[in-house]
Amino acid sequence: MSSSIANSQPREYVVKLGSPFTDQKPGTSGLRKSSKQFEKPHYLESFVEAIFRTLPGVQGGTLVLGGDGRYGNRRAIDVIIRMGAAHGLRKIITTIDGILSTPAASNLIRKHNAIGGIILSASHNSGGPDGDFGVKLNGANGGPASESLTNRIYEKTQVLDEYKIIDYPSIPIDSVAKYSLGSMTLEVIDGIVDYIELMQKIFDFDQISSFISKDFPIAFDALNAVTGPYAKRILENMLHAPEGTVRNSVPLEDFGGCHPDPNLTYAKELADLLLEGNVYSFGAACDGDGDRNMILGKACFVNPSDSLAVLTANSTCVPAYSSGLAGVARSMPTSAAVDVVANELGISCFETPTGWKFFGNLLDTGQITLCGEESFGTGSDHVREKDGLWAVLFWLQILAKKKCSVQDLMSQHWNHFGRHYYSRHDYEEVSSQSAYELYERLEVMLPSLIGSSFGKSVVTQADNFSYLDPVDSSLTKGQGLRILLEDGSRVALRLSGTGTKGATLRVYLERFVASNGDLHLDPQRALFDLISNIDSLAEISKRTGMTRPSVIT
Ligand code: G1P
Ligand code: ZN
Repeated sequence: MSSSIANSQPREYVVKLGSPFTDQKPGTSGLRKSSKQFEKPHYLESFVEAIFRTLPGVQGGTLVLGGDGRYGNRRAIDVIIRMGAAHGLRKIITTIDGILSTPAASNLIRKHNAIGGIILSASHNSGGPDGDFGVKLNGANGGPASESLTNRIYEKTQVLDEYKIIDYPSIPIDSVAKYSLGSMTLEVIDGIVDYIELMQKIFDFDQISSFISKDFPIAFDALNAVTGPYAKRILENMLHAPEGTVRNSVPLEDFGGCHPDPNLTYAKELADLLLEGNVYSFGAACDGDGDRNMILGKACFVNPSDSLAVLTANSTCVPAYSSGLAGVARSMPTSAAVDVVANELGISCFETPTGWKFFGNLLDTGQITLCGEESFGTGSDHVREKDGLWAVLFWLQILAKKKCSVQDLMSQHWNHFGRHYYSRHDYEEVSSQSAYELYERLEVMLPSLIGSSFGKSVVTQADNFSYLDPVDSSLTKGQGLRILLEDGSRVALRLSGTGTKGATLRVYLERFVASNGDLHLDPQRALFDLISNIDSLAEISKRTGMTRPSVIT
């Protein structure tokens, strides 16, 4: 199992850069650019150098490394291994073929007391030579690097004039092995077993297995991305779902041309099966790197904000959460459905900016157990990332315990808590200038809106969301424009931090209907008023040149 490569005292050398790459500003989820950009000479290496010069504990530390298998994954792993050895790491842990989901990476970082991890993924963006690639850094707690660390890395990229690497041939990582590269050890492990062990500690696999075997057929779409091998082992091998339950289960470099984003637009095949077909009782999909999830029932789409609320309300169905939750958190654009549940449970509910890193401090200090975002992200304190397959198992556990359908569970929930009608409208590939102008114009208008009418209600608050972290007292400003109405409705606007082409404008719409109101409207109809009002106020169609959003969730 342990092999030393012939050239075990590799030559270290320094590569001089003509000038630094000054465009390497990490967004919400690390540095995300086109694959072509990453293929430019020294581009990847420069960013990795900035990481190794900034991340605490590199000398003598352990780093976890892997990715979602997209085009560029294997090359980047080679480069990072060679640079890690040059920078004095003691050990790099990678996985067979470099396949490692984001939540599984978070688990490995925590389990091995690593200084952090580098995850190669552009998440739900398309892959391949014409798609996107990304480098994401996680810290020692297993979560996305803090804002201050990413800022320091960015500052380093601005002045970088050289990087360090060792001369070494590509190392095979297609099976479990251990190699020595000078003083660094490279360990290739099976990236799936540790994750499965963690899931077994949280859920009652027998209960789920017996439920799904009794006339409750399920379908899971891995969208040719990283969760395929994980889902095959868990759903088919361990929970005994029939072979073929996991669709598109082999991670492909270009995701087979599909866009690995589990929503109604990009996971349409699965959505049609559940919403229009009559075969399956439950459907789910995950994104490129396995941290997002979409949940569907027969003729029923579960809005991610509702999903967080349902998991919170039914958490005691899951063995790991049977004694209750410490608290919950949601990102600002996520609907207040979970707030209502938290209120009834008598636990705290925090509102954070968009991005998983903002949950880190709350999770680390034990103030929350569950958290989530409207963007198909849900997670708990078991790792420091959102976790797609965990959410799927959570749903299955609740359904198994309650022995009901997804649709029944949703109806029961709304009948008890009322319904937060919710939708997100994305305007993609808008010219950056138009998007910024639209945003800035609306921001300037906000103070004057307070007290004025908006649709059927009146504006009570209008601001740009800022967050004071209760743990480290850091203040994060400018996190999205909010217009809050007297009747509990709300509209928010943000510019995406993860898009790679032009700008993406996100419009979040929410309206609360109490449990004695009409709970079964089409959300777009229920929100129609808010949709047309924000359009005329912010001049969305006029300024984007788009009569309708590119994606409606
Ligand atoms: C998007 C989502 C956000 C999520 C992020 C990373 O960011 O909206 O909730 O944390 O991807 O998965 P955005 O493009 O909106 O900046
Ligand atoms: Zn993702």
